[in-house]
Amino acid sequence: MHTETKEINESKQGESLILDSKKRNSKKLFLESYGCQMNFSDSEIVASILSENGYNTTNKMEEADLILVNTCSIREKAEQTVRKRLGEFNALKKNNPSMKVGVLGCMAERLKAKFLEEEKIVDLVVGPDAYRDLPNLLEEVEDGRNAINVILSKDETYADLSPVRLGGNGVTAFVTITRGCDNMCTFCVVPFTRGRERSRDPHSILEECKDLEQKGYKEITLLGQNVDSFLWYGGGMKKDFKKASEMQQATAVDFAQLLSMVAEAVPGMRIRFSTSNPQDMDEKVLRAMAKYNNICKYIHLPVQSGSTTVLDRMNRQHTREEYLSLIDKVYEIIPDCALSHDMIAGFCGETEEEHQDTLSLMEYVKYDFGFMFAYSDRPGTPAHKKMEDDVPEEIKKRRLTEIINLQQKHAAERMRAYVGKVHEVLIEGNSKRDENFWYGRISQNAVMVFPKTEGTKVGDFVMVKANDCTSATLLGEMA
Ligand code: SAH
Ligand code: F3S
Repeated sequence: MHTETKEINESKQGESLILDSKKRNSKKLFLESYGCQMNFSDSEIVASILSENGYNTTNKMEEADLILVNTCSIREKAEQTVRKRLGEFNALKKNNPSMKVGVLGCMAERLKAKFLEEEKIVDLVVGPDAYRDLPNLLEEVEDGRNAINVILSKDETYADLSPVRLGGNGVTAFVTITRGCDNMCTFCVVPFTRGRERSRDPHSILEECKDLEQKGYKEITLLGQNVDSFLWYGGGMKKDFKKASEMQQATAVDFAQLLSMVAEAVPGMRIRFSTSNPQDMDEKVLRAMAKYNNICKYIHLPVQSGSTTVLDRMNRQHTREEYLSLIDKVYEIIPDCALSHDMIAGFCGETEEEHQDTLSLMEYVKYDFGFMFAYSDRPGTPAHKKMEDDVPEEIKKRRLTEIINLQQKHAAERMRAYVGKVHEVLIEGNSKRDENFWYGRISQNAVMVFPKTEGTKVGDFVMVKANDCTSATLLGEMA
């Protein structure tokens, strides 16, 4: 299973973020993040807001005046992890009663004031669109009251705030381009916890990309729940586009245009993007990928199921056949493109036959990577309200195992196909196993590890020949 991108970077779960200290700041913030890349990116915005309001970050929770946890609600397990962590903070608070604890992100939005009732330790609850209000909320908390702001916004994109890059490698960075999601997949809490879909002003996106380039960054991932749906017409919710003026509609910027603008603005940088939704992925995006060398040949294209009837119950807006013809188009326009997926095993009412459809779709596409999950019933979602979570746990598990095993087989085939060829690699750091080796990725997102040679450094683009591979890593040497 691939674990380098998106939400499933297990090694990063619970990572605390450290920021350069400002001398005038006297208080200490311990900030911990769970869940998807968007949460890690949001934490950088939170750290930057609080650094202007008296807080320096620390990685020692014992010495913190304020602990903030940026939380995830996507599956039940994600919420359990956070609840357990709150128990640990509670123990700390016994020794340090003046310490405050706040919950940010999707769990804050989903549970709202209930959090304050259920978890006595929590002083502060703040949803993903309310981070600008943090300084005010903290004043209330300091006066001894609990504080909460879970208002979702029509237009907040934090466009003018420059996130402070935390805990990164100085080479790869994420740039948020959309917030929220309008898709209403029936299994998903995101539309409820992150609100309606909004796009960010392209000018501020380009500024951020150029700023990153100047600071020595070499790769940008444009981030959103549904990046292909990006549409800038002067601000506001995507669903209100129809109400915009003729002028606004005529001069609107879509994702294919944004991608090309970024590729041209920072020609020396690699561009990636995540996540794509099949029904919004336009051929124009594929053409832009083929046209610009600096756009990486990799698409994360979640499908969730290979069965049209399950896709319908999931409200995914496309059939199996439509997805497969999109895949054909990808390989036609970008023959060397790598693909990855998200898949859910055991959704409501899933039959054995529908599960077999998932396996046969995977056989057709032969994905490079996959992120695979057993269905987890989430309170408040359309599936929870209208369908029955009726696939027994052991069947979910068995189907998930079959999906994972097949994915591993395909990943190994893909990796073997990269062997014997020369690839451009961006050096991101030392290999974890051996300091004498560099770690980097090829355009298709596969990891390459190779011996260091004189004169090479982190941030360099180098040509590397893949000589061998394990199930998840290419082993090479500089060509
Ligand atoms: N569009 C988002 C999707 C976020 S959720 C993005 O940017 O990636 C990430 C993945 O979690 C989904 O694609 C789906 O495969 C999985 N997921 C979402 N809700 C789930 C649930 N209730 N149970 C199991 N997996 C779920
Ligand atoms: Fe969730 Fe579907 Fe949006 S998976 S984030 S509702 S695209």
